This record gives sequence, C-alpha cells and structure tokens, in this order.
Amino acid sequence: MADAGCKIERAKELDINLMLDLWNSIPGLGVGQGDEKKSLEVFLARNPATCLVLKDNEQLIGTVLGGFDGRRGYIYHLAVHPDYRGRGYGEKLFNHVIQELKRLGALKIHLFVYGDNHTAISFYQSQKWELRRDIQVFSWDAGKSDR
Ligand SMILES: CC(C)(COP(=O)(O)OP(=O)(O)OC[C@H]1O[C@@H](n2cnc3c(N)ncnc32)[C@H](O)[C@@H]1OP(=O)(O)O)[C@@H](O)C(=O)NCCC(=O)NCCS
Repeated sequence: MADAGCKIERAKELDINLMLDLWNSIPGLGVGQGDEKKSLEVFLARNPATCLVLKDNEQLIGTVLGGFDGRRGYIYHLAVHPDYRGRGYGEKLFNHVIQELKRLGALKIHLFVYGDNHTAISFYQSQKWELRRDIQVFSWDAGKSDR
C-alpha cells in the first residue's frame, strides 16, 4: 500500500503518542475532548479495523479514525503530515477507512469539519462527498452542562 516504505496499518495503543503529536501540530484539526490517551485507547479497542495509521518506515505520517455505532459510520482525524501531502496518501487513508466501515455494515458515513478548514473541505469535495446543508449539529458537552 502507498509508496515503497509507506504503508497503512491498524493503529495500536503504542501509536497514540505519535498520533497526538501529529494532530497537535496541525491547526484546524480540532484536537479536543475524547482525544485524551485513555479515551483513544478505548476508541481503538472498540474500532480495531477502522483506526488506521500511515507509516514511512517507523515514522507516523498519517492517521484516520473510523467508528461504527451499528447504524452509521463516522470518520475523525484524517490527517497527513505536511511534508507528505499532495501525494495521494490522504485519499488512500480515506478510501481504506471507508472500505472497512462498509465491510462492517455502514450504509452511511458522516464526518465533521470546521467551516474554516478550507483544505479539508476541498479534499472532501474532491472525493465527491456531499456537503449537507440541511443538518445542524447539536452537541451536549459534559464540561459545560450541569445535567
Ligand atoms: C486533508 C488532507 C488529509 C489531504 O491529504 P493529502 O495527502 O494532501 O491529499 P491527497 O494527496 O490524497 O489529495 C487527493 C485529492 O484531494 C484534493 N486536495 C487535497 N488537498 C487539497 C487542497 N489543499 N486543496 C484542494 N484540493 C485538495 C485534490 O483533488 C487531490 O487530488 P490531486 O492531487 O489529484 O489534485 C491533508 O490536507 C491534511 O492532513 N489536512 C490537515 C488535517 C485536516 O484538517 N484534516 C481534516 C479533519 S476533518
């Protein structure tokens, strides 16, 4: 998969620190609640086939987290290291996670993008994904709520 030396693998617990390093270096990615090490361990354990990393030998250069809740698939944190962008790696990670989510039974897959993340929006448009204008996102936040 990918160039010689670069390959997509299932993410392991041992990859988490490197995943966080990559995400924290990318503005607009939205590292937040749920990205604590413990939470990521739980997410990886629940979604072993759909949490993927791209490695160039031992260097972690890309990630994507897929989750399937039995009804819908969700994709989070698709990211490629800036030095490796524009070479098709983002597309490879994206297609791979879609295939795995479909294999688990997902008929629809959603993802969230900040409205000012124009790079990501252009990427998803290039992949012919539909930008939903008919849906608003409502969130409950344990950190802000008193119930
Ligand atoms: C989005 C991202 C993963 C794309 O990774 P990438 O490896 O550069 O993408 P690819 O090389 O596979 O690009 C595939 C296609 O997407 C489109 N594309 C990718 N980046 C683009 C950009 N900045 N502007 C416009 N189109 C873009 C192009 O059509 C490209 O095809 P082409 O190279 O034949 O023109 C990468 O830019 C990234 O990590 N961004 C920061 C993290 C982020 O915001 N992730 C989204 C979280 S929701």
